[in-house]
Amino acid sequence: MSSAQLYDTIGATYTVTRRTEPRIAARIWAALGDARTVLNVGAGTGSYEPPDRDVTAVEPSALMRAQRPPGAAFCLAGTAESLPFEDQSFDAAMAVCTAHHWADPIAGLREMRRVARRVVVFQGDTSDPDRFWLTRDYLPEVADLRVGRPSLTEQARAIGARMEPVLIPWDCADGFFEAYWRRPEAYLDDHVRRGISVWARVGPEPEQRAVHSLRDDLVSGRWAERNRDLVALDAAELGLRLLVT
Ligand SMILES: C[S@@+](CC[C@H](N)C(=O)[O-])C[C@H]1O[C@@H](n2cnc3c(N)ncnc32)[C@H](O)[C@@H]1O
Repeated sequence: MSSAQLYDTIGATYTVTRRTEPRIAARIWAALGDARTVLNVGAGTGSYEPPDRDVTAVEPSALMRAQRPPGAAFCLAGTAESLPFEDQSFDAAMAVCTAHHWADPIAGLREMRRVARRVVVFQGDTSDPDRFWLTRDYLPEVADLRVGRPSLTEQARAIGARMEPVLIPWDCADGFFEAYWRRPEAYLDDHVRRGISVWARVGPEPEQRAVHSLRDDLVSGRWAERNRDLVALDAAELGLRLLVT
């Protein structure tokens, strides 16, 4: 199944838990600099689109495009790997939580570089499974999703981007995979998991095993014991990065 087809299958409830997190948006918008025209690639339902610039969106999933709010930027059907624009058409191109879905992330990033003078990408580096307790202790299958994929460092190198760490606030408003690092009970909620493609990609058996195991550890106090250092943190370094050219 292509990733566009994936979102045509799993995307129906995306906006229940997925929305712009203002502190991450501030970092993305600052990285866009003085760009007036911005292309949002893998735009989904329109999260993180800056309200004060001229935005054009590209998104392959019809189901995701259909959920863009009234007044959202014009959105074309298309994929990152083949952007239907002339060279240097935009001041900047942005991509948020999407490049891990692209069939060829390096080709997609090079396309962004071709059509825009600046590229800003927000993406997770999942190369260290020990960084996040959910992958370390409950869902090691996340490592399988990386097989054959370029690392984030390789992706950054392909477009000459620098990488900046983005700490995730404990009360992150956008329910992506790492968002609930200090709210572990959230992962027991089906609505939360349905907004995170990782669960669909690993499949129902690892999902159910991880959820049962986490529930047991929350009840027994084992999760709290293992992760006692997290409780005092307001933001955590979980491998999320901004790639900026
Ligand atoms: C997790 S959503 C992120 C959406 C939005 N950027 C956000 O921050 O909410 C990932 C999006 O990437 C899109 N996508 C999948 N394959 C793609 C590709 N090859 N090129 C561009 N977008 C793609 C999916 O359809 C989905 O809408």
